[in-house]
Amino acid sequence: MADELPLAGHTALITGGAKRLGRVVTEALAGAGADVCIHYGRSADDAAELAGRVRGWGRRAWAVQCDLADSEEVARLLPRAMEEAGDIDILINNASIFPESTLMDFTENDLRENINVNALAPLLLGRAFAGRGQAGHIINFLDTRIVSYDKAHAAYHLSKRMLFTLTRMMALEFAPAIRVNAIAPGLILPPEGKTEAYLEQYAHTNPMQTYGNPKDIAGTVLFLLTTGFITGQTIYVDGGRHMKGATYG
Ligand SMILES: NC(=O)c1ccc[n+]([C@@H]2O[C@H](COP(=O)([O-])OP(=O)(O)OC[C@H]3O[C@@H](n4cnc5c(N)ncnc54)[C@H](OP(=O)(O)O)[C@@H]3O)[C@@H](O)[C@H]2O)c1
Repeated sequence: MADELPLAGHTALITGGAKRLGRVVTEALAGAGADVCIHYGRSADDAAELAGRVRGWGRRAWAVQCDLADSEEVARLLPRAMEEAGDIDILINNASIFPESTLMDFTENDLRENINVNALAPLLLGRAFAGRGQAGHIINFLDTRIVSYDKAHAAYHLSKRMLFTLTRMMALEFAPAIRVNAIAPGLILPPEGKTEAYLEQYAHTNPMQTYGNPKDIAGTVLFLLTTGFITGQTIYVDGGRHMKGATYG
């Protein structure tokens, strides 16, 4: 019975929800009873296919497009999604870009783009979400690299550090109505275009000597959503990588 599922009666917006980790999270939320607004940037076909499949499970599902690099579009995203879905009480800021850059060579535009997608969009969505005046939960996606220094993705690193700080700021500002937590994945999926060999190559860098599964991330999302007394927390799902503190790149 849908009513017995832990997230029955809830509706989630998942940014970048059509592919990769976002897709697995979307499936887990719907499997736990939530209705889902699947945000996508370019992956219209994947989003439509996933929405159709989720509807087949008896959930409501929508696909909503928005370029998260464009703050004017971002300002319209939550209102547009709520026109379709009604109130949305779970916001998953999963979408991200991961371009290579070094401290010496990134341009102002590189930095702006990383910050716009990886930190400003979650902030603008978070503010709009808090502006509903209703209870809810936000989960931001970070990266285990934030505790060390990822020299080969310097602009990305800065943007994820910003989102880490924003997670704590929003948790304080939006309490008690809204809980705000973060998940910092480690080695889970290879970057787009790379194969499983990439995961094998770096598995030894984790204390657990292996790499994770997207289901570890989805399980952490469900844990945070269903455990009411946690806010401002970052959970590292990384085989212990955050404790090593070495430099990447
Ligand atoms: N994969 C890992 O092992 C790993 C490790 C550490 C941290 N993380 C974090 O976990 C999250 C998910 O990781 P992932 O590897 O699944 O992410 P990803 O594939 O790199 O990106 C997820 C989605 O973000 C969307 N996106 C990017 N730029 C956008 C824009 N300007 N406008 C709209 N959408 C945009 C894309 O949606 P469309 O395809 O629809 O355009 C993309 O599919 C990210 O925040 C990432 O930093 C992942």
